[in-house]
Amino acid sequence: MMLEINRLSVNYGHIQALHDVALTAEQGSIVSIIGANGAGKSTLLRTISGLNSPKNGGSIRFLGKEIVSLAPHKIVRAGIVHVPEGRKVFAGLSVLDNLKIGGFLYKGAELQKTLDHVLTMFPILAERKDQFAGTLSGGEQQMLAIGRGLMAQPKLLLLDEPSLGLAPIVINTVFKMINEIRDSGVSILLVEQNARKALTICDKAYVLENGYIRKEGTGQALLNDPDVITAFLGESV
Ligand SMILES: Nc1ncnc2c1ncn2[C@@H]1O[C@H](COP(=O)(O)OP(=O)(O)OP(=O)(O)O)[C@@H](O)[C@H]1O
Ligand SMILES: [Mg+2]
Repeated sequence: MMLEINRLSVNYGHIQALHDVALTAEQGSIVSIIGANGAGKSTLLRTISGLNSPKNGGSIRFLGKEIVSLAPHKIVRAGIVHVPEGRKVFAGLSVLDNLKIGGFLYKGAELQKTLDHVLTMFPILAERKDQFAGTLSGGEQQMLAIGRGLMAQPKLLLLDEPSLGLAPIVINTVFKMINEIRDSGVSILLVEQNARKALTICDKAYVLENGYIRKEGTGQALLNDPDVITAFLGESV
């Protein structure tokens, strides 16, 4: 198992955002986490990345190693890269410089090789490499945020709501890229409010509600689950 999370609980002061979360992800898979606003999706990704600290007893094992108390930069070095909610590109820097920041672990030929790989994967970024990131469209900024993440050569990519605020046609492009990234050998943990797309693309999914994992199953099983349909797919049964 690539990622194995057990008994993960996280508080913000007196508010408990995650309750005893358990989750696994196999190498080469896409695992989706769906849930309403405030369910704890971003908190879960931030805790995996080392940005939030869980309560004692929680475990996050990555490639057989406990990473729960490691500093964020060490978690990046271990192979987990987080593409945050809201893209967070550096608006006043060029596309190229944004990508180079993502590749901070590498230099010289290795940095160039990774850059060439990302620019081949995202031709739109190659076209716009000298442009300020702040002048890109929302969809292009999302590609840049993902490309910047790939510059760190992740084994596992954490994507927080990559489709948020994008037009349907652009959302399709983003999901196509997510598939391509998985096909290139990078495993993906995908947090989404676009439940239908997230369930369609994934190998396995979890439903998070008020900090609790309520359901777990294949994407197909959850697409056919009456509770999921009522709560997330906007249809009555
Ligand atoms: N820095 C913080 N301080 C206090 N409470 C927080 C903080 N960040 C998140 N929370 C609370 O923790 C809970 C989970 O928030 P989180 O951002 O993880 O949810 P989410 O599922 O990502 O929601 P969204 O879909 O809106 O992005 C919410 O009740 C939220 O108000
Ligand atoms: Mg969130």
